[in-house]
Amino acid sequence: MYKHELHNRINTLLQHNKIDFAGEDISFVTRFIANATAVESLYEELYVKHPLAKALFEQLLQTIINAYQQRDASLKKRDTEKTGKDHWFLSNEITGMSLYVDRFCGNLKTLSTKTNYFKQLGVNFLHLMPVFESPAGESDGGYAVSDFRKVDERFGTLNDLQKLRKKLHEEDMYLMLDIVLNHTSHKHEWAIKAKNGDTQYQQYFYMYENRFIPDQFDVTMPEIFPESAPGNFTYIPECDKWVMTVFHNYQWDLNYSNPLVFIEMLDTIFFYANLGVDILRIDAPAFIWKQLGTTCQNLPKAHTILRLIKQCVAIAAPGLALLGEAIVAPKEIMKYFGNGLYTARECDFAYNATQMALQWDALATGDTRVMLAAQHEILQKPFGTTWINYTRCHDDIGLGYDDYMIRQAGFDAYEHRKYLKEYYAGTFPNSPAKGALFSVNPKTQDARISGSLASLCGLEKALDQQDSYAIELSIRKIILMQAMSFFIGGVPMIFYGDELGYTNDYSYLSDPGKSYDNRWMHRPIIDWDKNKRIDDASTVEHRVFNATQNLISIRKKLAVVADHKNLRWLTPYNIHVAGYVRSNADTQLFCFFNFQNKASFVTWYALRETGLRPYTAYDHWKQKKYTVGPDHEYLVIEPYEFCLLEVK
Ligand code: GLC
Repeated sequence: MYKHELHNRINTLLQHNKIDFAGEDISFVTRFIANATAVESLYEELYVKHPLAKALFEQLLQTIINAYQQRDASLKKRDTEKTGKDHWFLSNEITGMSLYVDRFCGNLKTLSTKTNYFKQLGVNFLHLMPVFESPAGESDGGYAVSDFRKVDERFGTLNDLQKLRKKLHEEDMYLMLDIVLNHTSHKHEWAIKAKNGDTQYQQYFYMYENRFIPDQFDVTMPEIFPESAPGNFTYIPECDKWVMTVFHNYQWDLNYSNPLVFIEMLDTIFFYANLGVDILRIDAPAFIWKQLGTTCQNLPKAHTILRLIKQCVAIAAPGLALLGEAIVAPKEIMKYFGNGLYTARECDFAYNATQMALQWDALATGDTRVMLAAQHEILQKPFGTTWINYTRCHDDIGLGYDDYMIRQAGFDAYEHRKYLKEYYAGTFPNSPAKGALFSVNPKTQDARISGSLASLCGLEKALDQQDSYAIELSIRKIILMQAMSFFIGGVPMIFYGDELGYTNDYSYLSDPGKSYDNRWMHRPIIDWDKNKRIDDASTVEHRVFNATQNLISIRKKLAVVADHKNLRWLTPYNIHVAGYVRSNADTQLFCFFNFQNKASFVTWYALRETGLRPYTAYDHWKQKKYTVGPDHEYLVIEPYEFCLLEVK
């Protein structure tokens, strides 16, 4: 929409900044004009009542121009290439790994010598867990940032990070970093100024003279870490005030009702964009807007902020994709892709947290019905956006799907969740899993689950008991879990160590900065001598690595796996088997996953369900050709095995 005053203002600003309208900056100008009304209206939605709104809007526009002008020519070229591909991130050729630089290999310099390892595995996209400065012992794994622009000395320097990024790009790889948008460390310069009584910086946070307002917030705000950090406010003796700290008491929530905070953080986003980051992981976006009388999660204005960020990024750094780390209820997750006018104009990616948790559900119960009951919501993801699919990450597993989904499958929701928690904590009789409950809420008994992929799949116990059949089953479970998430559509994100079957690491218990947080049990320290076992075919490491490698390579070969909303779930012919078909004009790939500890039988009719009459089916996983039988005969899937059948 043309708005005379706004577009005039932008024209003047662009001229003032010597933007070349007719020459090299033409695409930037076009993007600016195209998105200007959205930027203005989203900004007004947030800040129209703020006394400085008008003046700061000018600053916002200038921040966008600065970001563009500071963007390296090579990154601008990469932007053009990516936008030319139209949704470059939907590709089946991208596979990610998420890792802690120090625990993986020490520091950033060493990491850049590991690209051959990633190549060997097939990984071409790295998510580095937070690398910016964060106080030791009070860092929440780097999610309490004290300087958004200084690489923590533990990892190296900004220069090392830049060199790594260049190397990754030269080798056709992508990079993802976090922006910790919701809070800063209490050691961040803004927090220190606020502590020292600077009222301008006190307004960067939610600070109160007494408990009057905090008490009201606490009535409706849930606790995120009820065991280690109960409550949502922390008393700050230096200034005799209470500050909002939703996560740990050393993580101060930023106040986005202050436009200065928004502009500062937008500038930080551009700083990361101009480091050459391809995907920015927006940490904890569900929490960025607070309002009395609510849970302060998933509020409409949190979405307005994300939309505003997206439109600004689309102008200055269009190659940068955004991932919203919203680990919330299924219905709420979908909203992070945008809706209404902003459909597919908010976050490009979200974590497929519902699917992830449901796979763990199916693995523990051997029953896929809860997973199926959730799909009508998961499938609402708009075209042009995609998932990060994963089985494990650095965080706990939350069983965040709705009770009605459990009930629809015929279970009692409370008992069902109780069983899952006990199963994965390893306390249910004969459970093969070895994990732990995380953040148990004594009031609600709510809890999440910690533990590595391998330990939750039973490998740790099986190895302890030297039970070779149990080892075999646990390896199958690991690969089954990965396979299901690799082929479902979206970018698979492997958590480092899982490609080798690393079991829980209990060394965190002797570190006082970590012992209060059992998520560290599944954040391993990689032993590169042990990793050499991938070359020895008799080892678990070899089997898991090899299988993961094969999955990635099959995925890369099959264009049908790219996320073009071409997924259809199959009728549950057998409740122990989850099945979906991925299809495009020339390929139909039927994927079946047996979540049972016995062989499962699926009628061959399943391959005719979509109306095809195939004669043969080729399993890309086993590299085996089947003759498709009549309806009364079966495809037999071994315990915890799966098939990736392309039909002809
Ligand atoms: C995100 C991170 C998690 C962290 C939290 C607070 O959820 O993934 O590790 O504790 O944000 O920053």
